[in-house]
Amino acid sequence: MSATYAETYAASSRDPERFWLDAAATLAWDKAPTHAIDGSRAPLYAWYPDGMLNVSFNALDRHVLAGNGEATALVYDSAVLGIQRRFSYSELLEQVATFAGVLRSQGVGQGDRVLIYLPMIPQAHIAMLACARIGAVHSVVFGGFAPKELAARIDDATPKAIVTATGGIEPTRRIEYLPAIAEAMEQSAHHVPTVIVAHRDGFAHQLSEYAGGNTAWHDWEELAAAAQAVGPVPVASTHPLYILYTSGTTGAPKGVVRDSGGYAVAMDWSMRNIYGVGPGDTMLTASDVGWVVGHSYIVYGPLIAGATTVLYEGKPVGTPDAGSFWRLIDDHKVDVLFTAPTALRAIRKADPDAALLADHNIESLKALFVAGERLDPDTYQWACGKLGVPVLDNWWQTETGWPIAANPMGLELLERKAGSPTVPVPGYQVEILDSFGEALPVGVEGNIVINLPLPPGTLGTLWGNDQRFIDTYLRAFPGYYTTGDSGYLDADGYLFVMGRTDDVINVSGHRLSTGAMEQVLGAHPAVAECAVIGVADELKGQRPSGYVVLKSGADIGEEQLGAELVAMVRHDIGPVADFREVRIVDALPKTRSGKILRKTMRQIADGKAYAVPSTIEDPSVIDALIPLLRPAT
Ligand code: COA
Ligand code: AMP
Repeated sequence: MSATYAETYAASSRDPERFWLDAAATLAWDKAPTHAIDGSRAPLYAWYPDGMLNVSFNALDRHVLAGNGEATALVYDSAVLGIQRRFSYSELLEQVATFAGVLRSQGVGQGDRVLIYLPMIPQAHIAMLACARIGAVHSVVFGGFAPKELAARIDDATPKAIVTATGGIEPTRRIEYLPAIAEAMEQSAHHVPTVIVAHRDGFAHQLSEYAGGNTAWHDWEELAAAAQAVGPVPVASTHPLYILYTSGTTGAPKGVVRDSGGYAVAMDWSMRNIYGVGPGDTMLTASDVGWVVGHSYIVYGPLIAGATTVLYEGKPVGTPDAGSFWRLIDDHKVDVLFTAPTALRAIRKADPDAALLADHNIESLKALFVAGERLDPDTYQWACGKLGVPVLDNWWQTETGWPIAANPMGLELLERKAGSPTVPVPGYQVEILDSFGEALPVGVEGNIVINLPLPPGTLGTLWGNDQRFIDTYLRAFPGYYTTGDSGYLDADGYLFVMGRTDDVINVSGHRLSTGAMEQVLGAHPAVAECAVIGVADELKGQRPSGYVVLKSGADIGEEQLGAELVAMVRHDIGPVADFREVRIVDALPKTRSGKILRKTMRQIADGKAYAVPSTIEDPSVIDALIPLLRPAT
C-alpha cells in the first residue's frame, strides 16, 4: 500500500536528506547525487551539490530511450487559429535538439542567457528545452508586458540572444512583437547580438525591416534548416535552468533563479504525488508559458513525468465561447485541468448554468486544480457542482516553483474545505508568525512563513543579487522564508491564505506591483503624488485603482488625466496591468513620517473593518476619501 499524506509529510520532516535523495532516484543523472541538502552557505541553500544531469534529457530523451517515443508529448491547440497539432516525444526531441544546434550556431553556450518572448505556440516549449539542452539559462517574458518591462529584463539578465515570433494573437487584435523587441533593445543598455524570430502568418512587420543594425535578426526556420542536432550537455544540479522575473513591492522586477536538479526532482515528485499525473495521462494547464504555472505545469512537469501536455492558445471565454475548456477536455481526453480561479469566474459569468457542458463529453476529467489567487468559496462550490470532480486549490508562488500547500491527490485525496488550499506539501514547514516573530495560535491570521531550508525546486537566490534575496525574503524572520502572504492554520492543519501583506496585487491571476504603477503615474507632469491600491473585484479578484494629488496650478480634469495615465501604464508596463481607474483627490492619508496608508485605503475600499493608525498625520484626509473609495456607502 502506498504511503498516506501524513506518513509522507512526517518522513519529509524527520529526515529531509533521506527523503529528497530517495525522490531524486527516479530521475536520470549523469552523476547521481550523494547528498541532498547543501547548507554550507546558509541561509542560502543548494540541492544535490555533487549531482549532474540534463533537464531536457529527463523531459525527452529518457522517455524515447525507454521506448515511448511514439507517445504524445505535446498537443498544440490554437482556438484563435482553429488548428491542432500533435508532437510525439521523438518529434519534440528532434525539434529541441535541432533548435539547440541553432542556439549553438549563434554562439550561445552553457551559462549564457536567452530571453524568450513568445506567444502560446510550440516554439515556446522547443526554445525552453533547447536552452536546457545546452545549459543556457532561459528567461521567458509574458507577451502582455510592454517594451520598457522587456528592457528592464534585458538589462538584468544580459541575454546573448532573444527568441521571439512575429506576433501573438489576442481575440480582438494581433500583437506585433517585432517593434516591441526593437523598442526594448533601444531602451536597454545591454546590447543583444542575436534575435531569432519564428514567423507567423498575418503580421505586418517583417524581419527585413530590422536588417542592417548591429543586431543580427534571423528567421527560425532558415537557421533550423542549416543546424546540426545537439545532444544534452550534463550540468551541475545547481546550474541555473531559468530566470523568471516577478513583481515585488518596488518597481524593479526580481529575477527568481531556478536550479536544474532540485527543480527536476520537484517537478517529478509533484506530478506524481500532487497532481496524480504520469505516462498515459493528459494535463491541460490553461495558463501562459510566461508565468510560473506555465513553466512548471505546461512545460517541465508533464514532460518530465512522461505525460501529454496540452498547449492552449486561446481564452476560457470568447474563443469562441465559455465552453472552450470543455471542448479541450473532450478533444484531447484531458485527465487533469489546471487553471486560475479568474478563468472559472469568467466562464461562470458568461454561462452561469454551464449549459455549454452539454455539448461535450468530459468523462475523462479526474480533477480540476486551481492556483494563482485565492479560490473564493462561491466559485469553488460552483465548479464542484458543475463538473462533478474534485476541485483542488493549490497555493504557491513564482519563487517556490511548485505548490507550498495542496491537496496531494496523487498521494491521497484529502477532505476539502472551501477557502483552503488544504495542507502543507511535504518539504514545506509552514508556520504563522506575528510581526514580532512569535508563533500564532490555531485560527489566528498572521504572516505565513516557511522554515528554512525550502525544499528542492524553490528559488536559490535572485539573479546576480544574493543580498536582495536575503533582504527580501530572509531578513524579516531569521531562519524562515517570508512568503509575503497572510493567513492561518486551522485545528486540522489546513492552511487558509487570505492575501498579501505587501503591495503586490493579483489581477486576473496576474501578479503585479502597485509600486511599479505608482512609478509610472508619478512621472506625469501634473501629478504631485499618488497611490495605487488593489481593490477587491468580483471577476478579476483584484483591480488596480489609482488616487492622485495634482501639483498646485495643474489644470487638467479627471477624465483627461485618467485617460493619459491609463495610456502611460499600458505603454510602460503593458496591457496586462489592466489599469483603468483614476481618481483625483485633495490629499492622501499619511503617517507623520510620510508613509501613505495604502492598507487602510484598501480596507475601506473593500468594505472591511479598518484601523486608522494613531500616527496618522491628518485624520480628516481619511474622512474625505471614504466616499471616493467606497462610493456605495
Ligand atoms: N499578450 C498581449 N496582451 C495580452 C496577453 C498577451 N499574452 N494576455 C492578455 N493581454 C491583454 C488583453 O488582451 C487585455 O487587453 P485589453 O486591455 O486591450 O483588453 C489585457 O491584457 C488584460 O487582459 P486580461 O485581464 O488577462 O483579460 P483577458 O480577457 O485577456 O483574459 C483571463 C481573461 C481570465 C482569460 C486571463 O486573465 C487569464 O487567463 N488569467 C489567468 C492567468 C494565469 O494563468 N495566472 C497564472 C496562475 S494559474
Ligand atoms: P505568482 O508568483 O504570480 O504565482 O503569485 C503568487 C501569489 O499569488 C501568492 O503569493 C499569493 O498571494 C497568490 N496566490 C497564488 N495561489 C494562491 C492560492 N491558491 N490561494 C491564495 N493566493 C494565491
